[in-house]
Amino acid sequence: MEIRRFDARSATDDELRQLHRITVANQAITRPNEPAPTFDQYVGRLLHPVPGFGKPTRWVAVADDRIVAWTTMFSPEAENPHLTIVEQLVVESSARRRGIGTQLLRTFLPELIAEGRTTIEFWAVTAGGSGESWAHHHGFRATHAVQVQELGTRQVDPARWEVEPPPGYRLVSWRGRCPDDLVESFAVARTAIKDAPLGASEFHFAEWTVARVRAAEAELAEAGIENRVCVAVAHGTVVALTMVELHPHRRDWAYQNDTAVLAEHRGHGLGRCIKAAMTRSLVAELPELRSVRTQTSTSNVHMIATNHALGYTDVRIQIVLTHDVRALARTLGGQRA
Ligand SMILES: CC(C)(COP(=O)(O)OP(=O)(O)OC[C@H]1O[C@@H](n2cnc3c(N)ncnc32)[C@H](O)[C@@H]1OP(=O)(O)O)[C@@H](O)C(=O)NCCC(=O)NCCS
Repeated sequence: MEIRRFDARSATDDELRQLHRITVANQAITRPNEPAPTFDQYVGRLLHPVPGFGKPTRWVAVADDRIVAWTTMFSPEAENPHLTIVEQLVVESSARRRGIGTQLLRTFLPELIAEGRTTIEFWAVTAGGSGESWAHHHGFRATHAVQVQELGTRQVDPARWEVEPPPGYRLVSWRGRCPDDLVESFAVARTAIKDAPLGASEFHFAEWTVARVRAAEAELAEAGIENRVCVAVAHGTVVALTMVELHPHRRDWAYQNDTAVLAEHRGHGLGRCIKAAMTRSLVAELPELRSVRTQTSTSNVHMIATNHALGYTDVRIQIVLTHDVRALARTLGGQRA
C-alpha cells in the first residue's frame, strides 16, 4: 500500500470518482437519513474547502491502483498554531479493520510534529460510529459534542420567520463587505462568539479586528463564496450578528455560520429576530434554496431552542475527539494497528 499527499485541484476524474464513491458509501452508514452529495456537489466541496482554517492538506492510501482511504486536515494559524483539525478520515468499508486508518495516522503525524502542531482533533465524527471506537482505541478523548440542525425551507411555515425587532433596535443586512461605518463594532460583536461553549476542545475562537474582518471577507470573495450578514444595531453600534455562506457549487443549500449577541443585549429575542430576517431574505431571493444547515454545541440550549423556533430540526450529533500529537505518535510507534 502506498500513502501519499493528494491535491484535489490536480486530481484525475477517476481519482475524484473513487473518493466520491468511498464518501457516499460511508455516509450511507454514518448519515443514513441524509441525501448523499452528487459527484458535482462533492467535487465542488473539495475545491471550496471551509474558509477560515487555512489550506487543506489531503492524503490518500492506494492499494492495487485504487484509493482505499483518504483524509483531509487543516492546520489553522492565528489563535490555533498548536492545532491540526482532521475534517475527515475515511477507509473504504471493505478495507476496514486491516490497520489502514492507523497507518494513515502514523504516516502524517511526523509532518505535524515538524510543523510544531501539538494537538490533533477529529471533528465531525458521528457519535456512536466506527470513528468514535477507533479514536478511543488510539487514546483520543471526546472533548465536545455538536448538534447539527437543518431548516427545510420549503417544509416550514414562513410565519415562523415573521419576527419584529425589539424596540430600540434596527436591522441592517449586507452581502460581502461590511459597511465602513459599522465595521469596528461588527468586529467587536463577532468576538462575542467566544462565549459559545466549546467543551474541552483545544480550538480557540478568533479575536476579531477590522483588519481580520476585511481579510476574511476577501478570502470568501476569492473562494467564490457569497457572505450574507444580518446585524441588529442600537445607537449606531452592531450588537448582534448572524452570517450565512452560499457556496458556488450548491445553490440549493446555505450554511448558517456564526450567530452572536453581545452579552448585555441577550434575552430580548435578538438572535431569533436576526436569523428570521436572514431566512426571509434567503427564501425570497434564492428560488433554488431547499435547506439551511447549522451546528452548535449540544450544551448551547438557547441557540438550539432558537433554531427549533425557526423550524430547524435536529439531524445528528457529531463529536470532537482530541489527542496530544507526540503522545499519539509514541503510542502508534509501538502498535501494529
Ligand atoms: C474509523 C475508521 C477510519 C477506522 O479505519 P480502519 O482502517 O478500519 O481502522 P484500523 O484497522 O486501523 O483499526 C485499528 C483498531 O481500532 C479499533 N477499531 C477500528 N474500527 C472499529 C470499530 N468499528 N469498532 C470498534 N473498534 C474499532 C480496533 O481495535 C482496531 O483494531 P482491530 O481491528 O485489530 O481490533 C473507519 O472505520 C472509517 O472510515 N469510519 C468512517 C469515518 C470515520 O468515522 N472517521 C473517523 C475520523 S474522522
